[in-house]
Amino acid sequence: MKVSYHGHSVVQIETGGKTILIDPFITGNELTDLNVDHVEADVILLTHGHNDHVGDTVAIAKRTGALVVAVAELATYMGFQGVENVHPMSIGGAYQFDFGRVKFTQAFHGSSFTEEDSQKIVYTGMPGGILFTAEGKTIYHAGDTALFSDMKLIGERHPIDLAFLPIGDNFTMGPEDAKTATEWIGASLTVPIHYNTFPPIKQDPHAFVTSLQSGEGRVLEVGETIEL
Ligand code: NI
Ligand code: MN
Repeated sequence: MKVSYHGHSVVQIETGGKTILIDPFITGNELTDLNVDHVEADVILLTHGHNDHVGDTVAIAKRTGALVVAVAELATYMGFQGVENVHPMSIGGAYQFDFGRVKFTQAFHGSSFTEEDSQKIVYTGMPGGILFTAEGKTIYHAGDTALFSDMKLIGERHPIDLAFLPIGDNFTMGPEDAKTATEWIGASLTVPIHYNTFPPIKQDPHAFVTSLQSGEGRVLEVGETIEL
């Protein structure tokens, strides 16, 4: 399985001939190397409804026909926006797709989509994290979240090979809380996300990974791919 990082919380997974995008925020993401008109996707997984996570999901799904998997309210909202293939789930639920197994974990955060034109905020259910398992490996994308003690439960019940954890602070965990999260989750490898996109989430990801005492930490440059 190939896993690559594309700035902010954007992660791409290639497995079994399919391309899976998590939180494809491209337009307005100055850190990304992806192009909204060319990016490939068979599946889009969304952690929550905030604009910097839903991003270009509607445009990409309309062009590629990608299946959008999200918590029920957000999946329904994506359907209302013209996404044809949606699969609604909820926190704690897992489903075995032909491309891998998806399980939604909780996240301590908000979940809403801001419709800028009409100045409306649409609430989109509970925010989540995603456990994705394929080829015998499990990836945990924590979405946007505060530190929470049930991360211990996530670590206890799921052997995690790779964890993507937010470190930006302000909207999510900062580096100190994320460091504690690595101890509770027990992932073999942790990659920091959700930093340096906007001024309030400026962080030093290298200082974060060197501070870690549980598992390995690695900063992925934008566009960098690892083999899992
Ligand atoms: Ni958010
Ligand atoms: Mn965010």
